[in-house]
Order: sequence, then structure tokens, then C-alpha cells
Amino acid sequence: MIESNNYKEALQNPIFEIISKAAELLNVQSYVIGGFVRDYILERNSKKDIDVVAVGSGIELALKVSELLPNNPKVQVFKNYGTAMLRFEDIDIEFVGARKESYQADSRNPMVEDGTLEDDQNRRDFTINALAFSLNKETYGDLVDPFNGIQDLKDKRIVTPLDPDITYSDDPLRMMRAIRFANQLDFMIDETSLKSITENAERIDIISGERIVEELNKILMCETPSKGFLLLYKTHLLERILPELTALNSVEEIEGQTHKNNFYHTLEVVDNICKNTDDVWLRWSALLHDIGKAPTKRYNKKQGWTFHGHEFLGGKMVKKIFQRLHMPLNHKMRFVQKMVIMSSRPIVLSEDAVTDSAVRRLVFDAGEDVENLMTLCEADITTKNPKKFKKYHNNFSIVRKKIVEVEERDHVRNFQPPITGEEIMEIFNLPPSREIGQLKEAIKEAILEGEIPNEYEAAYDFMMKKASKMELQVVNPKM
Ligand code: CTP
Repeated sequence: MIESNNYKEALQNPIFEIISKAAELLNVQSYVIGGFVRDYILERNSKKDIDVVAVGSGIELALKVSELLPNNPKVQVFKNYGTAMLRFEDIDIEFVGARKESYQADSRNPMVEDGTLEDDQNRRDFTINALAFSLNKETYGDLVDPFNGIQDLKDKRIVTPLDPDITYSDDPLRMMRAIRFANQLDFMIDETSLKSITENAERIDIISGERIVEELNKILMCETPSKGFLLLYKTHLLERILPELTALNSVEEIEGQTHKNNFYHTLEVVDNICKNTDDVWLRWSALLHDIGKAPTKRYNKKQGWTFHGHEFLGGKMVKKIFQRLHMPLNHKMRFVQKMVIMSSRPIVLSEDAVTDSAVRRLVFDAGEDVENLMTLCEADITTKNPKKFKKYHNNFSIVRKKIVEVEERDHVRNFQPPITGEEIMEIFNLPPSREIGQLKEAIKEAILEGEIPNEYEAAYDFMMKKASKMELQVVNPKM
């Protein structure tokens, strides 16, 4: 953490001098505020977006800055919000006029008036996000910190500048932001804030799916997302956002038989997978891989607890969640569905002796995603029994080795039948028919079972034998 009386050092980028100059020409005060200041002091990776507040018109300041820049970059103006944005090198700079703002309980639209810097800082989410560096000539680089945000940075605390009930009702998404920052920065949320979030949890219902997902993604991209999800759970936000997950939080006992708590198990799987992938969609897959278990849970004397078909149902639930939260309904969603549907395949496979044909089928079904699937399944091993833990991991490394071997030999990852349907039709002079389908299927099965290699000649010979059993006439023989 960097502590100083003056932070000129942080303002080395020439853009700050230019903003300062533009503000002086317009006779307004200007400040850098928010995440840039927080992250600089925390010595986190330098941010690619900078927020500037003008005590006056943010839009006019942005236009003036553009005028002073060599190639007058385009200014995007958002009139309704009174903000403007421009790009300098690879940095997005957002300009806003200082505002006094309060949302009314009965309306989602804020009442906005011009305000002082302090008014503007008051209406920000957290003391650590209300820190500002002056860009004004006499005080250039001075820190403006009316709520002692510096102390909260030192104490690692998330605190709201105003009564948390006001701050959170101004924008209920801030309840999730508090949790996200606590997770990202490894901070504690102030007790009164936590209480307020718990009491106001239902207000999250007015927030759009897109904004919620943005925060969920940021939580999932943390090193240990379980911390964020446990806070979402504890504050009752999670049951409103992803009730499918909280439904997993139960352990039932019948006739002395229990099953594992699949909610805590899921969080462990998510933390595990984060060590091995930065792909947010694979992390989503870990989060949702067991959601089908709550609705499919049954008990019977013979088998104890079962979750038959949970993977398939889970895949369907993924689509509903993506729809509800306005997430992309494209190949990303289909990837998550596929991971959920296939999530038990490698473990089932590795429980017995790992055969080539089982591995070949796995590669055939998972295609390009087979490595991701393995990563998910390895993360899924949360057993506390060291013997079992070792056995599963050993089996998985055998599976991984075999995947490479089988791939080298048979190339079934993007399986293309060695003999096409058209060729078969030509050889037997048949129209599209059940027989053609049977021959194609028999060739594919023989390859997956390892009876023949995935090669033209072998497939041709095999097909001929099969055809003669089916009493088909060869009309145009190949070779
Ligand atoms: N802000 C706020 N309430 C919100 C969102 C943002 O008060 N719901 C304020 C905060 O002062 C915040 C600044 O706007 O620092 C910029 O917001 P944003 O870019 O979303 O967050 P950063 O703090 O910059 O952090 P990050 O980029 O990591 O999200």
C-alpha cells in the first residue's frame, strides 16, 4: 500500500496534465476518483479505465480535453446521465459532473442536481471508492479523503460513506459490489453494512440480470470465489439470484444414511477449478455442475440416496438460468450445458479399469472440450478420504494419458466417418435408407470399440463383411 501526502507520482500519464489544463480553461475543478485511486494506493494492476469528476459539466470537460489532444479523439456523450467518455491510448476515461443524487423509495429514477465534490463523494458506494486525487493547479496530486477511506484500505474494510440503508437503496447492486470487493481485495464488510445487506436483500430483484451477472463473473474470477458465494448466501442474496444453488444446501438422513451437502461441495469444486483455469465459462460449469441434484434426489432402501439423471436435468436448468439472468444464449451456454451433462462421465469411467474403448467414447462425445471436461472432473474430487483421493487422481492421469494415445491413433475428437454416406449409397446403389444408416453406425461403433482403426481401408473391409451378412449387393466396388 502506498501512503503519501501527495500522489503526483500516480499522475505520470500525460493525460492528467491535459485534463488539468482543460479544467483550468473552463474554470472548473477536476479530480480523478474511484477505482483508479483505490487501486493505485493498493498497488494493484494499473487500471484501464479512469473516472474523472468535474465540479461543473463533465461533458464540456471531455470535449475540451479532446480539443487539446493531438488527434481530437471522439467523445461519446451520454446526455441522459450527464457523462462523456473518450479513449486515450488504451485507456477509457469517463467524465462526470459532480452530483448530488438521491433515489426515491417509490421510483427507480434518481433526482439529480449539480453538487460539490463532497456531495459527489457522499453518493458513491464505499469509502475506499470515494477517494480522489486533485487535478487542480494549486493542489495537484493531493488526496481528498473525507471519509477516511485510507484507514479503511489499511484495515481492509468495506464501509459505506453514508448510512448503508441509504447507500444500498440508492443502487441495490452495491450489495453485490460490497461482496465482490470483499472477495477481490480480501476485505471484511463492515458489520452494519452486512446487516443492512441482509435486511435489504430483496431489493436486488429490481436489478437487471446483466448487471447481476457482471458481478457474478467478477466473483467467479476471484482466486477463491467461495468467499463471495458464502457471503451472498449468508446475506440471502443468493437465494434470490441463484435459488438452484441454495437448494443444494441440505443434508438429509434416512435410516442412518446421509448424502453430502452439495452446496458446500460445489463451492469447493469452484475453488479447486480456479487453480487450473481462468476461463469464466468453465468456472460457471463448476458452479452449476450439480444443480440437478436437488430436484432428482430420491431415497430407496436398496441403493440409498440417488440423483438419477441429475446431469441431464442440470443441463436443462442451465438454459433456464441463462435466460432468467439475460446471459448469452449462444455457444457459451451450450458449452456450460455440455460440461454439466457430461460431468459424471470421467469419474464413472475411472472407477473401473480404464479401457481404451471407454476413453475413445469419451473423446468422441466431448470432442474439443475433452480437456476442459477433465479439468472439471478433477476439481470435482473433494473426498476427504486420502486413499480415495489418490485413487481418483491416479485414474484421471491414466485417462489423460490414454486420451493422448487414443487421439494419436484414431483421431475421434472431431470424428469424420472414414466412408461417407454418399459413398456407401454409391457402392450398393441404394437411396438413403435404413441399411445405409445401419452400415454407417456399425462402422462408427467398430472404430469406437477399437475393433478397427479409424482408416478407410479397414472401414471398407469391415463394411463389406457387414454388408454380406445383410445380403446387400455390391454394385460399384471401390479399390
Ligand atoms: N460507483 C458507485 N456505485 C456503483 C458503481 C460505481 O458509487 N453502483 C462509483 C464508485 O466510486 C466506483 C466508480 O463509481 O469507484 C467507478 O465504478 P466502476 O468502474 O464500476 O468500479 P471501480 O471502482 O472502478 O472498480 P472495478 O473496475 O474493479 O469494478
